[in-house]
Amino acid sequence: MTDNHAAERARQLREEINRHNRLYYVLDQPEISDADYDLLMRELRDLEESNPELVSPDSPTHRVGAPPAEGFAEVEHPVPMLSLSNAFNDEELRAWHRRATALLDGAEFDMVCELKIDGLAVALTYRDGVLVHGATRGDGYRGEDVTRNLRTIRSIPLSVPAEAPRAFEVRGEVYFPRSQFDKLNEERAAQGLPTYANPRNTAAGSLRQLDSRITAQRPLDIFVYSLGYAEGGDLPNNHWDTLEMLASFGFRVNVHNAVCRTLEEVEAYYRQWLDGIERLDYAADGVVVKVNHLRYQDALGFVGREPRWATAYKFPATQVVTRLLDIGINVGRTGSLNPFAVLEPVDVNGAMVKLATLHNEDDIRRKDIRIGDWVVVERAGEVIPQVVGPVAERRTGEEREFAMPERCPVCGVPVVRTEGEAMTRCPNAACPAQLFELLKHFVSRGAMDVEGMGERLCLSLLEAGLVGDVADVYGITKEDLLPLERMAEKSADNIIAAIRRSKQRPLARVLFALGILHVGSEMAETLVSHYRNLWTLSRATKEQLSEIPGVGPRIAESIESYFQNEANRQVLRKLQRAEVRLVDDSPRELVERPLAGVQFVVTGRLAGLTRSQAEARIKELGGSVSSSVSRKTAYLVAGEEPGSKLDQARKLGTTLLDEAGFLEMISEA
Ligand code: IVH
Repeated sequence: MTDNHAAERARQLREEINRHNRLYYVLDQPEISDADYDLLMRELRDLEESNPELVSPDSPTHRVGAPPAEGFAEVEHPVPMLSLSNAFNDEELRAWHRRATALLDGAEFDMVCELKIDGLAVALTYRDGVLVHGATRGDGYRGEDVTRNLRTIRSIPLSVPAEAPRAFEVRGEVYFPRSQFDKLNEERAAQGLPTYANPRNTAAGSLRQLDSRITAQRPLDIFVYSLGYAEGGDLPNNHWDTLEMLASFGFRVNVHNAVCRTLEEVEAYYRQWLDGIERLDYAADGVVVKVNHLRYQDALGFVGREPRWATAYKFPATQVVTRLLDIGINVGRTGSLNPFAVLEPVDVNGAMVKLATLHNEDDIRRKDIRIGDWVVVERAGEVIPQVVGPVAERRTGEEREFAMPERCPVCGVPVVRTEGEAMTRCPNAACPAQLFELLKHFVSRGAMDVEGMGERLCLSLLEAGLVGDVADVYGITKEDLLPLERMAEKSADNIIAAIRRSKQRPLARVLFALGILHVGSEMAETLVSHYRNLWTLSRATKEQLSEIPGVGPRIAESIESYFQNEANRQVLRKLQRAEVRLVDDSPRELVERPLAGVQFVVTGRLAGLTRSQAEARIKELGGSVSSSVSRKTAYLVAGEEPGSKLDQARKLGTTLLDEAGFLEMISEA
């Protein structure tokens, strides 16, 4: 590759990788598989190795992850949380072992093999026997303070026995059990919410909930895999005994960890799990091999951000090739037209795969997938199978390009595609497909929770013309139900009783049940805490809505346009007549949180407290903290050497507070 080409390619790769980092670490919405991401990283690393002049300090190869998202206080890790080098085949594993052996002057060494759990790394700090702090990895140097959320995980001990060191940090992987992952995705799909791509994502999404009550409802679990640091107390001199010690303190350590004396034993361990991993209730994407003796670990040290004393031997994602018979369209609750792949059935690790996701039209175009193509289908762990791309060499010329239909395949109304959005939508609120999805959502467990009203009954009600909008659920009588297929007297009674009970649901559930685009259950809670009356909410303008922290322009727009629609206001009136709760009359918190709805930015060095302490205090009082100054920022707290944020605040006319002013404000609050 000529120098110019190499430089250009490196630039492209960095840009692409940075974008995927943000999608993965900050937004929890990855667009590509981990395997594809690894390939991009690999190419960039190779390129930088053979062209050292291209190495720049800001290259993603020098980073562990991405900066923490807004909303949690930032914490600095006393010992950085680094990552692992990868091996993708026996030869690469051997090369790792050879290098370590050479650096240890030919010494033989034991290794510990562990499963590489596909979750989210966390650091737990204990002082004087109690859990005082929990943080995510973030970029490896700074993470987010998610103590409250971590406390909800039952397998994390809140206190440890007296023989534990006075102060120490434990590291481990928080994960989402597979059985529960599938269940959650089914529920989300039923509610018209986007499904999670993989368990790691789900664990991350759950752990980074601003409301720890939501985290508490998620069945998160943890495996602990190392000691970050420890002060006071005798410590083992090898990794295996360290794990045993942690287990004796009450931490959950994986029972499949093993000591291996030779590389052959490591390879046997790897192969055993290559076939066996699917049997476990957690996702693992490889085996972590660690040099056991801490003395050897110290001697080997680190290269850049990766230890030389450990490596991750990754499992390959399973890929198969099959025919793409057709591209089907599924109309979602909010009218989105979702393309999916209809495949010639194919066996992937013992599961027959007939359907796979295709994401959206742009993705199909970008990958140049055509109907009739032989396609590569990938399934990594429990991820829903996805079409990776076509096998272009096997084309016959008979393949057809895919085009989004111009009309909704269900109701025939012309579809719309908003600029900047990847989705094509059916704009017809009365489209039977939408009404069916909406009705299922309305009565579902997280919404109005009408017990006994499943998919089949929803369909029968629509077919019998008994339901024209969701509010009609409250007009259904026993006599309406009895003529329906498979409806016994007793079940009819039960359903009528369940419908009646559902009128008592709290306001946020009612709002969520309406199925407004972009208003999930958490957003509904936020909106209800500001507007305790759906009629008031229905009159709010998008400007007013955007004032609420967490409500962006897209959401504000969607809410405004929902309530401007006369048919939707009619639904509200019908719900009111049916005595469904539209006003929240529960008593408010006794003490109002004094900084509720007020956004702060903290910058520069403070003398009396750390930035994270200041931010934590703001949040305790109900305020929010952002990392950049915008029009929504009410106060900039500026310490010493405040930098560019001060300039930005001056430009926008944001109120400035020095440290003394800030302390005064929070002491009054
Ligand atoms: S040890 C110096 N052990 O993999 C790095 N990591 O790419 C020490 N992980 O951030 C990490 N299971 O999130 C280690 N048994 C295990 C692991 C494990 C999963 C994750 C962890 C880490 C990442 C490294």
